Formats: sequence, structure tokens, C-alpha cells
Amino acid sequence: MSDSSTFEVFFRKYKEILERQMEESVNLLQTPAVLKDAMLYSLTAGGKRIRPLLLFATLDALGKDPEQGLFPACAIEMLHTYSLIHDDLPSMDDDDLRRGKPTNHKVFGEANAILAGDALLTVSFQMIAEAPEQSIPLEAKLELIRELALAAGAEGMVGGQTADIEGEDKSLNIEELEYIHSHKTGKLLTYSVMAGAVIAGANMETKRYLHDFSMHLGLAFQIRDDLLDLDGNEEILGKPVGSDEDKHKSTYPALLGVEGAKAALEQQIAGALTALEKTGAKTALLQEITDLVAKRDH
Ligand code: IPE
Ligand code: IPE
Ligand code: MG
Ligand code: MG
Ligand code: MG
Repeated sequence: MSDSSTFEVFFRKYKEILERQMEESVNLLQTPAVLKDAMLYSLTAGGKRIRPLLLFATLDALGKDPEQGLFPACAIEMLHTYSLIHDDLPSMDDDDLRRGKPTNHKVFGEANAILAGDALLTVSFQMIAEAPEQSIPLEAKLELIRELALAAGAEGMVGGQTADIEGEDKSLNIEELEYIHSHKTGKLLTYSVMAGAVIAGANMETKRYLHDFSMHLGLAFQIRDDLLDLDGNEEILGKPVGSDEDKHKSTYPALLGVEGAKAALEQQIAGALTALEKTGAKTALLQEITDLVAKRDH
């Protein structure tokens, strides 16, 4: 099998396992039907599942069974989905289309969309706490929970989202923009890789290179997202094109121009691949994901 078909098989297998577990876990919740419906609506709308995939691929790279990471992978995708629901709200980016469907608040109303986000955020921590102990020892669970709080909260994604909103209608410098991107998007992508390292019990040196890799990848991911917001195809993308311009957002192409943003993307991808090589792990799948991030059209 060629590398890319190995990747396809891996991707399809773990995506299916992930989606089955997320649905099962939400379906087990004793909660008003509208809340469950709103949570499942966004969770099952599609999405690339790139963050869970990163976790599974990191475990594979470190010689572990990817399924050991199933519950944290669900947690990451649930938390990410919450961030998208809130990101689309009228008071945030005010967007109508997500994952090829009307946004959560368009279907369930603003109050239910906020609550569905709250519920997805909260249940994500429950998922890690309730992971089978034979797959993740207690000490590792505690670290995973703490690191997720850091990646998602005021010092992580929420901090980045705040700076993103504050940055509307302003011209920021590259350091300020890098803070936004590395926090609103980078932190959760970094967590996805580092969670694999924690579960696998990787040594300090491997962790350091994986961390470098994931920081570059996170930044690259959002630079590509900015570029797609300019020249993507709405149907393929499954979300609106031109949203950033409408809201006068600070983005890489807005600050550096399209060519400058593309060069910055290439630089981050090169940094990611260099760090990956240094890990000494079997990183073919992680390389494929990096390639996907560089070239993705959705
Ligand atoms: C979109 O993330 C939000 C960003 C952080 C750029 P994705 O591009 O991973 O969205 P889905 O999960 O595939 O819908
Ligand atoms: C959002 O960045 C990052 C999140 C934490 C959701 P964007 O606002 O650019 O994401 P999209 O383009 O709406 O997916
Ligand atoms: Mg946003
Ligand atoms: Mg947005
Ligand atoms: Mg965007």
C-alpha cells in the first residue's frame, strides 16, 4: 500500500470509531431533547476531525494503540465543536453556514446554541475523566484534564478569541496577530498532539519536538483558514467566504498580503516538518496530516 492509501484507511477507521463514540456518549445524557438535538446537530454535521486524527496519529507514531486516545479525542472534537457554535453567534462572527449546514443558532435559536456550546464544553472534561482506566492511567488523566483547561480557557483558545474580537477594525502588528492565531486555533491543535505524548508516556525530548511541530502546525492551520476565507469555494468549504473582510478581522493576508501569507504558511509548514523529523518517531501519518493542512481546500 502507498503511504496515502495507508493514511486513508487509518483516517476512515478512526473517524468512524470517534463518531460512533461521540454520538453514543451524547445520547446517554439525561437532558432536555432540544439540548441533545442541538449538540448532535453540530457534532454530526461533518467536520474534518483533524484534531482527533492528530491525537490518533501521534499515538501511532509513538508505537501505541490509537484507540487508547478515543475518549480524549472525543473530548477535543466536542470542545472544538462548542468553539465553532459560539464563534458563529451573532455577537461573535455572525455567520449563517457551518459544516455545510445552517449554523446552530439559526436552527435552534441563540439561547439553545449558547447552551449546546456550554454543554459540549462541559461534557468534554467528563469524557476524559470517564475514559477506561486500562487505556489511560489516573495520573495521565489528571494531566490531560489540566492541559485541556489551559488550552481551551483564558490562557488558550478563549484568550485568542477575545483578542480576535478586540482586533476587529484595528491594524495589529505581526506579534499581536500571531498571539491571536496561536491561541484561538493553535492551542487546541497543540493539545491534540501533546495529549498523544502524555498518553504514550513520551520522554521529554520527544515531547519538546512534538510541541514544536504542533505549534508550527497550529499557526499554519489558521493562516490557511485565513486564505480560504478570501479565495475558498463556499460549497467545498461549508462555511461563508469573505466573513473576515466583512468583520474587518485581523488576518495574515490582511496584514501581509496574499503572497506574504502564503510565504508565512510555507515557513510554518517547513518548521513543522523539521521538528517532526527530530522526534525520531515513525511520523508518516503526521507528515500526511501536515501536507493536508498546507494544501486543504476546506
Ligand atoms: C475551523 O476549524 C475553525 C478554526 C479553528 C480555523 P476546522 O477547519 O477544523 O473546522 P471543521 O472541524 O473541519 O468543521
Ligand atoms: C475561529 O477562527 C477559531 C475558533 C476558536 C472557532 P475563525 O473565526 O477564523 O474560524 P471560522 O473561519 O469561522 O471557522
Ligand atoms: Mg472567529
Ligand atoms: Mg468564524
Ligand atoms: Mg476563519
